[in-house]
Amino acid sequence: MSLGTSRALVLEQFGALPRPVDRPVPEPRPGHTLVRMRAAQVAHLDLNVIDGKFGILPDLPAVPGTTGSGVVLASDTHPEGSLVRLGGKGLGMRRDGCWAEHALVPDAAVEAVPEGTDPALACSYFSPVGTAWAAVHSVAEVRPGERVLVTGAAGAVGAMAVQVAARAGAEVVGVVGRPAKLGHVPAPAKPVLAAELSPESVGGPVDVLIDTVGGPVLKDALALVRPGGRTALVGYTAGRDFGVDLADFLLADVALLPVNLMRRGKEVAADAERLLADLRTGELTLAIERHPLDRLAEAVERLRTGEAVGKVVLDLT
Ligand SMILES: NC(=O)c1ccc[n+]([C@@H]2O[C@H](COP(=O)([O-])OP(=O)(O)OC[C@H]3O[C@@H](n4cnc5c(N)ncnc54)[C@H](OP(=O)(O)O)[C@@H]3O)[C@@H](O)[C@H]2O)c1
Repeated sequence: MSLGTSRALVLEQFGALPRPVDRPVPEPRPGHTLVRMRAAQVAHLDLNVIDGKFGILPDLPAVPGTTGSGVVLASDTHPEGSLVRLGGKGLGMRRDGCWAEHALVPDAAVEAVPEGTDPALACSYFSPVGTAWAAVHSVAEVRPGERVLVTGAAGAVGAMAVQVAARAGAEVVGVVGRPAKLGHVPAPAKPVLAAELSPESVGGPVDVLIDTVGGPVLKDALALVRPGGRTALVGYTAGRDFGVDLADFLLADVALLPVNLMRRGKEVAADAERLLADLRTGELTLAIERHPLDRLAEAVERLRTGEAVGKVVLDLT
């Protein structure tokens, strides 16, 4: 029996944008959950996939979208009508993802979300919250009283890292690339422009750098970490290449520590859930901008250029 038609964004060629296609609603099948999607993230990882520049890529045509949220329509394991978050298990990479009105996904890619959560928050909180938690606590092991420098501090991960580090008792300085974003660095961090980074502007050496942008900003920020300090490497929006002069590296004596949320997802899940409760009450903040399904190009452009503030989400209601 046909369940009707459903709109999906279908990628036919790497390097091009997916285009809207009306197709049958996927037929439910064992081991899978059918979801009426409410929201889906447009994340940097999704851009890497549609550009064909990631280590795991789908066979085309494919529906991108590595994370989303929606309401269960049919499932053996998840209650019908419940709000869920979709992610992992290769969604939007090895198999069709979340940029669609309906998604049929493995049961294991579905997590319950507290009822009443804003679907846009439900689909977008885990990556920034989980990554910030992993960077501050698991990787950099920030201690009370330490000085922490966060780059991309008005971005989703950066803004969350500022708040998580401040809660850990650190004194935080938040770096942004453009003046318009100075006012978007969450309190209590001191905001500083990347172009003005210096020992004076950040108030002296820092113990920890949490870098979410890479490229030249990373190079400049790294020079401000004290010998014996730590740097948690999270992202590369400002550049993927990072040359190391071994003599300088050894002299600086700063640990370069990668953060990999895909590997650490389970480890940070309970903390991320705890922080979601604080996001729902407004004790923590995560900026989200919403775009309709047929305005994907605008959403992608805002994320690509760094104009967006916080998370970029497709509204699929
Ligand atoms: N390692 C992991 O497991 C993990 C997990 C999640 C995310 N990430 C990565 O972390 C990075 C940040 O993610 P996010 O969600 O926080 O992104 P976001 O909200 O878009 O923030 C990234 C920031 O990068 C800065 N930026 C500098 N040059 C840019 C450019 N050419 N284009 C776009 N942005 C530019 C922008 O800040 P300014 O305007 O202040 O320069 C922007 O606020 C991404 O690379 C993402 O892939 C990694």
